[in-house]
Amino acid sequence: MSDATGSSITARERRMPANAGTAGSAGAAGRSMLTYTDIPADLAEAVRGILNRHELREQAGLPPTIAVTGPARGAGVTTVSQALATILAQELGRFVCWFDCSWMRTGRADHDDGRPGLIDILEDHGQLSRALLSSNELPQLVCLSPGSVPEPSRNQIVRSHELSELLRILSDEFDHLVFDLPPVLGHANSLALLRQSDASLLVIRHRSTTISQVRRSLESMDPTPNLGVVLNQYRTRIPAGIRRLLGE
Ligand SMILES: Nc1ncnc2c1ncn2[C@@H]1O[C@H](COP(=O)(O)OP(=O)(O)OP(=O)(O)O)[C@@H](O)[C@H]1O
Ligand SMILES: [Mg+2]
Repeated sequence: MSDATGSSITARERRMPANAGTAGSAGAAGRSMLTYTDIPADLAEAVRGILNRHELREQAGLPPTIAVTGPARGAGVTTVSQALATILAQELGRFVCWFDCSWMRTGRADHDDGRPGLIDILEDHGQLSRALLSSNELPQLVCLSPGSVPEPSRNQIVRSHELSELLRILSDEFDHLVFDLPPVLGHANSLALLRQSDASLLVIRHRSTTISQVRRSLESMDPTPNLGVVLNQYRTRIPAGIRRLLGE
C-alpha cells in the first residue's frame, strides 16, 4: 500500500479520508452496520477459521479484495460480509472498506441522505470521501453504500473504466475491500465484479441452499480463488453438550 506520493504507509499511520463522515453503527443510506459485539459467535468463528486456514494454506497474507456472495437471496451475504469486514478491522487492525453493491439490483429506493450516489462518485472521484462513513466504535472500518442505479446504467457501470478506477482508488486507500454482492446465480453483474476481486467467499444457508446451487455457484465463480464457504445459520437439534463430545 502506498499513498499518493508513492511512499509506503501502514494502516495505523494512515488517516481517514478527509471528508469521511461518522455515523455510529449506521452505514450510508441508513444501512445499519453490524457491530463487533453483535456478530453471532458461531459466525465469527467460521470467518476466523476461513481466514486462518487461508493464511496457513497459502503461507501468504489475506487477499486485499474479497467478494462475498451467495447462490440466492437471503443466504446471509450482508451479515457475513459485514462480519468479515468488522473482524478484519477489529481483530487484525486492518483499514477496511465494506462496499454495499446492492446498486447492482432492483428493490432498493434511492438513498436520500445528501451523500453522493454511485453515479456522482463515478463522474467525479473527488466525491468519494463524502460518500464514505465510518463508525465511532471502529474508525478503521468504513462503509460505502452509494444507493441505487437505474437499470440501463448498471450493466455499463459494472464494466466501466470509471468503476475500475474507483476500485483502484479504494484499493490504494484501504488494506481490504469487502464487497457485499448480489446473488451470483441470476446476477451476471456479480460475476463481473468477482472477476475484479482477489478472492471470493460463498455464503450458503443451512436447510435452504441446495447442493446443486452450491455447485453451480462455485462453477460460475471460477477462476476467482475461493477463500471458503460459510454455512450460515446452522441449526441442529443435537444438544450443545453432546455436540462438544462429538468434537463439533
Ligand atoms: N448468522 C446469522 N445469525 C442470525 N441471523 C442471521 C445470520 N445471518 C443472517 N441473519 C439474518 O437473516 C436475514 C437475512 O440476512 P442478510 O440480509 O444478511 O441476507 P442477504 O443474503 O444479504 O439477503 P439479500 O439477498 O436480501 O441481500 C437478516 O434478517 C439477518 O439478520
Ligand atoms: Mg444483502
